[in-house]
Amino acid sequence: MAKVLVVYASKWGNTKIVAETIIEGIGGTPGMETTIKNVNEVDFDRAVEYDAVLIGSPNHAGSATAGIKKIISRLGKLQFKGKGIAFFDTYIAKGFETAVKKMEKQAGEKLLGVELIAPGLSVKVKGLQGPIADGELPKCKEFGARVAAKLTNS
Ligand SMILES: Cc1cc2nc3c(=O)[nH]c(=O)nc-3n(C[C@H](O)[C@H](O)[C@H](O)COP(=O)(O)O)c2cc1C
Repeated sequence: MAKVLVVYASKWGNTKIVAETIIEGIGGTPGMETTIKNVNEVDFDRAVEYDAVLIGSPNHAGSATAGIKKIISRLGKLQFKGKGIAFFDTYIAKGFETAVKKMEKQAGEKLLGVELIAPGLSVKVKGLQGPIADGELPKCKEFGARVAAKLTNS
């Protein structure tokens, strides 16, 4: 049994839908247990109970939200070595760097010994408040399935 925690920030619910759809994708693989939490309600000290944490944020001015940045750095202070991590974001228009890239960079600096278990997923929304652009949700399911495959094979 592999346990996955999915943590997200979301102002209008789009990144939350992405998080839920990733969980659907993970659920297609037997032996996976998932928990979803808003970044504001997560008890992050319990992150060590999970085999992997997936962290998602809307792109706010080319970065993750302050709350998400804080938990990535918090994770670096916990005994999370040997576990897995992956990131996702929502965006309107791709800039020179996505929030995912920023989060991966931050993780690379703060989370030594933590493995990036899937390349980051960036999901396009049609406007500030969404909705999620056509054809994007299947990618979220695939991302979940990829994470599950990685965790069940290792
Ligand atoms: C303060 C703020 C800054 C934003 N900056 C960007 C940006 O630099 N690039 C971009 O593509 N989208 C930007 N957006 C749009 C968000 O990506 C979009 O609102 C978000 O994906 C919606 O997801 P949510 O419903 O989960 O909040 C910004 C939104 C806000 C509120």
